Amino acid sequence: MLQVPVPGNPNQASTKAVILVGGPSRGTRFRPLSLDVPKPLFEVAGHPIIHHCLKALAKVPDVREVLLVGYYDENVLRDFIKDATKEFPQFRIQYLREYTALGTAGGLYHFRDAILKGKPERCFVLNADVCCSFPLGEMLRLFEERDAEAVILGTRVDNDAATNFGCIVSDSHTKRVLHYVEKPESHISNLINCGVYLFATECIFPAIRSAIKRRTTRPRMLSYPSSDNLESSFVATGDDEDSEKSEVLRLEQDILSDLADSNRFFVHETKDFWRQIKTAGSAVPANALYLQKAFQAESDELMAPSATMVPPVYIHPTAQVDPTAKLGPNVSIGPRVIVGAGVRIKDSIVLEDAEIRHDACVMHSIIGWSSRVGAWARVEGTPIPITSHSTSIIKQGVKVQSITILGKECGVGDEVRVQNCVCLPYKELKRDVANEVIM
Ligand code: GDD
Repeated sequence: MLQVPVPGNPNQASTKAVILVGGPSRGTRFRPLSLDVPKPLFEVAGHPIIHHCLKALAKVPDVREVLLVGYYDENVLRDFIKDATKEFPQFRIQYLREYTALGTAGGLYHFRDAILKGKPERCFVLNADVCCSFPLGEMLRLFEERDAEAVILGTRVDNDAATNFGCIVSDSHTKRVLHYVEKPESHISNLINCGVYLFATECIFPAIRSAIKRRTTRPRMLSYPSSDNLESSFVATGDDEDSEKSEVLRLEQDILSDLADSNRFFVHETKDFWRQIKTAGSAVPANALYLQKAFQAESDELMAPSATMVPPVYIHPTAQVDPTAKLGPNVSIGPRVIVGAGVRIKDSIVLEDAEIRHDACVMHSIIGWSSRVGAWARVEGTPIPITSHSTSIIKQGVKVQSITILGKECGVGDEVRVQNCVCLPYKELKRDVANEVIM
């Protein structure tokens, strides 16, 4: 357990928060970027993905402790936690490591003693891989108004996208959840689970315990593979007084449908932005949405608008951008990046130590750490509708990523054009390429 102590007494907290960060066997769809950085630490809009979750939690006054639950090695999150503890002194941040992937509910249950320490009445649970405005205050209000056992954040998506998510049938008047089905085979609702919850602690752990008990009696009906093909693993829950054996246990399949049978499960429907961060390409819309939010909030982290800065644009203070380069909208430039004269960049993320040489054009793309884009080169993806929840498109009859991604230390030659490609680390592109995965 990695723990950085902070002043204050977290035992006073009546609301805690858990961020489910997953582990190295997850995030495979985030390749090639997750080959070099764990997905929760990938930077969008100038900050690691989970930093955006912490920032939202920091606005809820009585959250005094945030537990990151996952199965990455402790070292992976150590520096992040140290920095975050300085930036968010109002709460203690701890990493609790599962010894194997226990599933979204299995991890919560395994660490229930740590979560329940100090007797918090409520607990937020956030999937780390979503990007949204996290209206946690509104969720808390609904929770209190309705004396809820659970509140889930929901959003409306197009009917044809809904079955990729957990689907919620609710009473629009009372906001009560009537029915919940995880990734149903056919359409039941376009109100979907955003992966953000608020639970009464006195209800969630007994609900997980009941699911474990039910599974013991009906083992085959309650065991599910996860979306990233996790192997089901039989594991002991360690300190469990009933010494139940448990498999991977998933909040969505094993718990939420049952909560819907209670009268105290409610949905807060957000009209604000929400996206999943699954594929590497989905970091580009997430970057745009967080930058736009920061721009609306008049954040001083962003560049002032000008003829060459089309807002919103984030540039790390150590980056060198030639004054004749035109950047934006929706651009993040990482530490020590060099951007040459006459360069045009829009809707893109340029990562640490990359170099974009003069007169190159980068659009709808991610340029990996220490990669080089040559003079007059063109690296581009295809814009997708702002409402789309997918980053793949069909080009010449083939499904490709709409975002072009260069992995770490790639090189694009002068005048070379790269379109809708995913390029694995350390590749040199010396000729034009389109719609390819370059391995
Ligand atoms: N600690 C831990 N342990 N975290 C996990 C584990 C685990 O074993 N398995 C998954 N997670 C984390 C992931 O890192 C991610 O942040 C979150 O839990 C959900 O991941 P998935 O299990 O892959 O679910 P999903 O993304 O396909 O679907 C979930 O999220 C959607 C919204 O993004 C469901 O909750 C859907 O209903 C929902 O619509």
